[in-house]
Amino acid sequence: MRIDKMLANLGYGSRKEVKQLLKKGYIQVNGNVIKDGKEQVNPTHDRVTLNGEVIEYKEYIYLMMNKPQGVISATEDEYEQTVIDLLQMEDSVFSPFPVGRLDKDTEGLLLLTNDGQLAHQLLSPKKHVPKTYFAVIDQEVTEGDIEAFQNGVTLDDGYHTKPGILKILKSGIYSDIELTITEGKFHQVKRMFEAVGKKVVYLKRVSMGQLQLDESLDLGEYRELTEEEISLLKNMNPKE
Ligand code: URA
Repeated sequence: MRIDKMLANLGYGSRKEVKQLLKKGYIQVNGNVIKDGKEQVNPTHDRVTLNGEVIEYKEYIYLMMNKPQGVISATEDEYEQTVIDLLQMEDSVFSPFPVGRLDKDTEGLLLLTNDGQLAHQLLSPKKHVPKTYFAVIDQEVTEGDIEAFQNGVTLDDGYHTKPGILKILKSGIYSDIELTITEGKFHQVKRMFEAVGKKVVYLKRVSMGQLQLDESLDLGEYRELTEEEISLLKNMNPKE
């Protein structure tokens, strides 16, 4: 592959901008300064650097973010800060997008990728990918609620949900719960609790499919998925 194409593909600028980087001698391939954009490189074997920093060539990027409140799950917005605004340039150049949406006031696991096929699989209603949420509810959550969720509840628009698995972690004037659902209707968790006369006062997603939120990530932090996590998401045995 031509070096100028590789750099442009990675988002280091237009062909013209990349030409400038080369002309200024910022790019090295295996330790040699390369100024000619036509130079052929093997992105997987050659060591390409920009100002001494290694440029990693990959087609897909898979990021796990611990989404904070106050940012929206979109790629761009005129007024609001988006999850993409929280990414470093070296990651945003891959043009990842959030896989599904978390509300502005919801925290927790958000997957960002540019792998459209994986995103489609995870979001497809046919796949029933389970998503687990931790929530704080404004009142006591009861065994009756567990049963109601097990049977599915009717939302404000008349839609009857698929069964949800509700676990009460702590019951009291405020209750801590965990809810696993296999659908992704708009505001689903909040609306399921509204259906039983209760209000979600805090919501955090803790898992999606086999992928668990890495609790060592602070709010707003993110990291790349490990190979094993990517395989888990793709439903493959990493050892195969
Ligand atoms: N359910 C909600 O109500 N909000 C979210 O952000 C995710 C699931």
